[in-house]
Amino acid sequence: MAKPVLSAPTGARQHATLWENVLRHFKDAVIVLDTESTVVFVNQAAEELTRTPRAKALGYPCDHLFPDSLFLSEMVLRACNLRQSETRNEETLRTRRKALQVRITCVPLFDEYGDIDGAALVVQDLSHQKALEETARRNESLARLGTLVAGLAHEVRNPLAGIKGAAQLLAQRLPDDPFLREYTDVISNETDRLSTLVGDLLQLGAPPKPSLVPVNIHEVMQRVLTLVGPEVRDAGFSIQCEFDPSLPELMADSGQLQQVFLNLIKNALDAMNGASDSAGHLSIHTKMETDYHILRGAQRAQSYLRVEINDSGPGIDPDILSHIFEPFYTTKARGTGLGLAIAQRIISDHNGMIRAFPAEPHGTKMWVSLPIRKAS
Ligand SMILES: Nc1ncnc2c1ncn2[C@@H]1O[C@H](COP(=O)(O)OP(=O)(O)O)[C@@H](O)[C@H]1O
Ligand SMILES: [Mg+2]
Repeated sequence: MAKPVLSAPTGARQHATLWENVLRHFKDAVIVLDTESTVVFVNQAAEELTRTPRAKALGYPCDHLFPDSLFLSEMVLRACNLRQSETRNEETLRTRRKALQVRITCVPLFDEYGDIDGAALVVQDLSHQKALEETARRNESLARLGTLVAGLAHEVRNPLAGIKGAAQLLAQRLPDDPFLREYTDVISNETDRLSTLVGDLLQLGAPPKPSLVPVNIHEVMQRVLTLVGPEVRDAGFSIQCEFDPSLPELMADSGQLQQVFLNLIKNALDAMNGASDSAGHLSIHTKMETDYHILRGAQRAQSYLRVEINDSGPGIDPDILSHIFEPFYTTKARGTGLGLAIAQRIISDHNGMIRAFPAEPHGTKMWVSLPIRKAS
């Protein structure tokens, strides 16, 4: 039988309508291309992944959705020429918005006569998995170091309390000599500083298990803002908060979360204090996490909220960025390098993620993603 000449809609387009219902709720992004690499179908996950609505995707060439991803056109070409599907387990795919780590499969499509009719791309976003893996990896090295550190901190805590008590007694008994008083003050202040350090070390090495209760993230943020308020005002910095009131509750330890956000905001204030050029501006946003639309396995059903803290400081040097969550890593003269390590530990104990990025045009973005409470 002679093959009829197809007029539009082509075979791939007909397939697309047939698949649409099946694929609409598919969690992986699916993009169907005709033989000219023109997009003829995208499912909802693909619209979210590329941040491109269907109307702006259909009829456009594939590289409109994924600019500078040459390997993709090569995959499509190979799939069509060799009539075989191909999977790449780890690729960097550029959307118009950003680069994503993905697993990608390209499947050739055939019409009813066995001729090549186009190709389908199935894309899994691995960023969520990567961020979780990275957080877990950091946590493992923390846990190893933590046991040693906590043991040491326990040993130091008691003598420290003894020194502090003795200094106070000495101060009471000393004649009112400002010269001697200065020395007892130094002992007292420095033991206070060491006690804080020992407390941080214990928190890092032997952290109390979070006691999880329903928590409203905005109440936590308000408490933190009250604590840092005077410092922000004294420095003349401005703060802008955009809180999404529709966010659901978290199951969390609110005291521990408070400490995380306090550490992050204190770092932001330190950074802005160090920047001489412009007046410091801090912005804090809360929103539903939309980065992870394609979650895998058990995480499929889990949604996250995100707290973003952006400062207008000098930003973090790319060489430094990969170290900032390491315990004892500090670039400050009187820093301990424990703030972010503790924050990372707490967020990981809450099954969340913490990430740092450069902000535009300068400054730092810290993102904390936390699982929200599932509706029962
Ligand atoms: N918002 C920020 N802007 C610039 N650098 C930052 C910021 N937050 C953290 N850092 C960098 O990360 C390092 C580690 O931070 P942290 O663990 O809190 O320890 P510390 O504040 O004691 O130095 C800091 O010394 C700094 O170099
Ligand atoms: Mg800090």
